[in-house]
Amino acid sequence: MRKDADTGLIKEFLKEIPIFKSLSDRHLNRLSEDFIVCRMNKGETIFHQSDESTDLYIMLDGAVRASLVNEDGEELVLAAFNKGDFFGEMSLLDGEPRSATMIAAENAALGILRRETFLRAVKDDPGIAIDLLSAIVRRMRMADGMIESLAFLDVGQRVLKLLVQIARTEGIKDKDGFFRIKRLTHKELAARTGASREAVSKAMKVLSFRDGVKEEGDCFLVSPRAEEIL
Ligand code: CMP
Repeated sequence: MRKDADTGLIKEFLKEIPIFKSLSDRHLNRLSEDFIVCRMNKGETIFHQSDESTDLYIMLDGAVRASLVNEDGEELVLAAFNKGDFFGEMSLLDGEPRSATMIAAENAALGILRRETFLRAVKDDPGIAIDLLSAIVRRMRMADGMIESLAFLDVGQRVLKLLVQIARTEGIKDKDGFFRIKRLTHKELAARTGASREAVSKAMKVLSFRDGVKEEGDCFLVSPRAEEIL
């Protein structure tokens, strides 16, 4: 982890972060002074579930995931965070240990704010609290969606739902109407669908046999009719 503290640069970063969009210049200056920037390499752990800390993290660049990891090292990905997102709000707000382990999914630049600094910013601009609440509600809705999938869908349906979601947001349509997306390993698919790697491998065979998903080099091709398959 490398740290630097260029206040002017940090202020420019902060202006781009949705949660601080309405802070005045004076308040942004105050926030920048207490802001620590750290850089993480892909695969590094930022903090572990159960750690005792209350800092808030703002994503300046890169990608991070929140995961639950069991004693055997199996991982369930709860959420993904990208530029402009924040995490760590749960321990910041209730003082309890961290609810999940945060891992850099790509090289990432993060801003760290101490709890007192963040609460002062909220006093300076109560609009931040409203943005924070909406983000927490959005996360609850996504968590409900994940619980629903785990309770009511089998592994094949969960894998397909995930691939269709990725295809909709990041997919590039080819001439046959298939959506080309970055290939995920079966281990990654397992972590994102709450399944074992073996169960994902079986599901992928069925999906491929039914022409729902094709594996091609470092891509998956997701059929435009994928949802009709299972
Ligand atoms: P905290 O508990 O402080 O540290 C782990 C962080 O992961 C947590 O705050 C949230 O920012 C994030 N997190 C935990 N669970 C979820 C979830 N279900 N959806 C989105 N983010 C989560």
